[in-house]
Amino acid sequence: MSTRRGPKAPLAWSGREPRFGVRPLDASIRPARLDDEDFLVALSTRVFRAYTRDAAGAMRRMLGCRTSTISVAEHNETRIGFVVVDVQALGRDYGPLKRPKVAHLDAIAVRPNMSSQGVGHKLVAHAEGVARARGAVSMSLLTADTNTGAQRLFLDAGFQVLAPFDDVYADGQRALSMFKAL
Ligand SMILES: CC(C)(COP(=O)(O)OP(=O)(O)OC[C@H]1O[C@@H](n2cnc3c(N)ncnc32)[C@H](O)[C@@H]1OP(=O)(O)O)[C@@H](O)C(=O)NCCC(=O)NCCS
Repeated sequence: MSTRRGPKAPLAWSGREPRFGVRPLDASIRPARLDDEDFLVALSTRVFRAYTRDAAGAMRRMLGCRTSTISVAEHNETRIGFVVVDVQALGRDYGPLKRPKVAHLDAIAVRPNMSSQGVGHKLVAHAEGVARARGAVSMSLLTADTNTGAQRLFLDAGFQVLAPFDDVYADGQRALSMFKAL
């Protein structure tokens, strides 16, 4: 029996194209509005409870942060996810770069019933666009070392693992620091 695949069958899904036979969800992404607060707090509380004891408080602090940009993903006018990116000037030269700005992806989430349809990838790409538009030269993030789904998402988007940090989250879980040049 031949093991050759047809010309259109992908050997491995790269994350840059829709997976074979699976349609990505038609999601749009827009800046967060004041009336998104309940959604942002509710989804944070639901998906981040394993990592923080006060996900609602953390989200409210991000909502009040002047350097953060929050974006909301929608499908059929229903909110289904969000991403928070913080951009700050480093305040000093960094090698040849004159006082560069750097971005940190503070939080990303998709409603569990909407996961694995490409919305996370869209939100990461959108966050990178926001960061570039605000002048950032790099993006960093932290994710729990047990959160293999999130790690796959970020590795797929071109992030590299920099270093592990012990005892970062609520139950003492380790975090991985990840980085991408923009
Ligand atoms: C991590 C998270 C944001 C990912 O969101 P998502 O919408 O499921 O992400 P995507 O669909 O883009 O990618 C996830 C999976 O879908 C697949 N996928 C991506 N694009 C796709 C597409 N166009 N069509 C079909 N499948 C796709 C990916 O291969 C990936 O598969 P994998 O789980 O086997 O790696 C989401 O799971 C989440 O909210 N988790 C809880 C909060 C959290 O942990 N946040 C990260 C903290 S740092």
